[in-house]
Amino acid sequence: MPETITITDDRTGKQVTVPITNGVFPASAVRELDPSLFIYDPAYMQTAACRSSITYLDGDNGILRYRGYPIEQLAEKSTFLEVAYLLLNGDLPNAEQLKQWTLDVTHHTFVHENMRKRFLDGFHYDAHPMGMFVSSMAALGTFYPEAKNVLDKGSRDQQILRLIAKTPTIAAMCHRFSVGLPFVYPDNDISFPANFLNMMWKIGDYEVDPRLERAMDVLFILHADHEQNCGTTSMRVVGSSQADPYSAAAAAASALYGPLHGGANEAVVRMLADIGSIENVPAFIEDVKSGKAGSRLMGFGHRVYKNYDPRARIIKEVAYGVFEVTGKNPLLDIALKLEEAALNDDYFKSRKLYPNVDFYSGLIYQAMGFPAEMFTVLFAIPRTVGWLAHWQEMLTDKEQKISRPRQWYTGVDERDYVPLGSR
Ligand code: CMC
Repeated sequence: MPETITITDDRTGKQVTVPITNGVFPASAVRELDPSLFIYDPAYMQTAACRSSITYLDGDNGILRYRGYPIEQLAEKSTFLEVAYLLLNGDLPNAEQLKQWTLDVTHHTFVHENMRKRFLDGFHYDAHPMGMFVSSMAALGTFYPEAKNVLDKGSRDQQILRLIAKTPTIAAMCHRFSVGLPFVYPDNDISFPANFLNMMWKIGDYEVDPRLERAMDVLFILHADHEQNCGTTSMRVVGSSQADPYSAAAAAASALYGPLHGGANEAVVRMLADIGSIENVPAFIEDVKSGKAGSRLMGFGHRVYKNYDPRARIIKEVAYGVFEVTGKNPLLDIALKLEEAALNDDYFKSRKLYPNVDFYSGLIYQAMGFPAEMFTVLFAIPRTVGWLAHWQEMLTDKEQKISRPRQWYTGVDERDYVPLGSR
């Protein structure tokens, strides 16, 4: 069978044949056929906007790999910083490289005092931590004017280190500000996840429980990248104008904020609390199906996964480990009942709607003491690595230019201005 596709323009009879590679054919075929012809593809459902060698996702079979490594193996055996190196550099680090990388990241964990004293202090006392986080990402860039040299590899590498190292510090600062607690400076003698937990919770003699430290690290690994999702696409689109990576990351974080994307973990916990008890699950499922609930079954469904999200499977296991330390989250029973009911319901089965990464993560975060407003911030910390990996891939890709889709104009034709008195 030929691995080609032939497109015929029935208006002119002109034909163009192009190769199909891994299920993708170039849109240049359409340009060749007629440069004034465009493809209408809302939400990019059928559009591959780039080549990428970072993350492989097979949604039909529930497969996720970073640089070829199955997510299950990385979650079991690796650490977040090792995975960050892998995503950014293409290969796992050797012992020397990992030592240097860890040292480099650790040396950038502090943020300028003005971020804390002048910038964060300007927020209202009840500001949402994710709103503070988004703004802080952009504000951070103003401390590093050299970040604008995005075509310089040395500068890019420097900003990548800074962003990865400083996002946990900023995240913890946003939380401490919102609850009125004094900020805790980074502790560079402990691991990346332990330092984050310490900055979040330290009051008096707080010591990080190693089981929660590991759970946090696994959650970071699972959220580190997910190819061309809404946030990463925002990073690429904004970055394509050669904006500095802090501004681009702020745009990506804004995209993540929405309830259909990274905001879903917060929405799941609120939904479970609203359901209230397992007896109410069947009625809630009926409400979702009829549209009466006014919302979807949050934490279910995915644009690409038409099978169980492999991250959700791992997170469910992590949840049980965390509950051994923290005690069971009372919402777990409702979640389990909801999952069981949905997986056995024709509405969800026929639409291939399965639990996604956000279905169980919120329960873990809540059990660990994080307020719901922090859940999306927790997603953004590790996803910063994915955004940066895609940002540098995009900037070094000779085929990429400034992102600029076309439109299908459906407005009125030219007409003459009507003076106010005659309208
Ligand atoms: N509950 C009920 N029905 C749903 C759901 C859901 N969670 N998700 C999709 N559907 C239905 C939808 O109504 C549609 O039905 P019909 O064909 O009768 O109109 C069908 O399934 C296909 O849905 P879609 O909206 O075309 O699918 P999409 O690929 O555009 O949306 C999604 C993907 C993730 C936005 C969506 O499934 C959703 O809103 N899920 C709930 C929010 C959520 O959990 N988001 C986290 C996603 S994973 C982490 C991340 O990416 O950040």
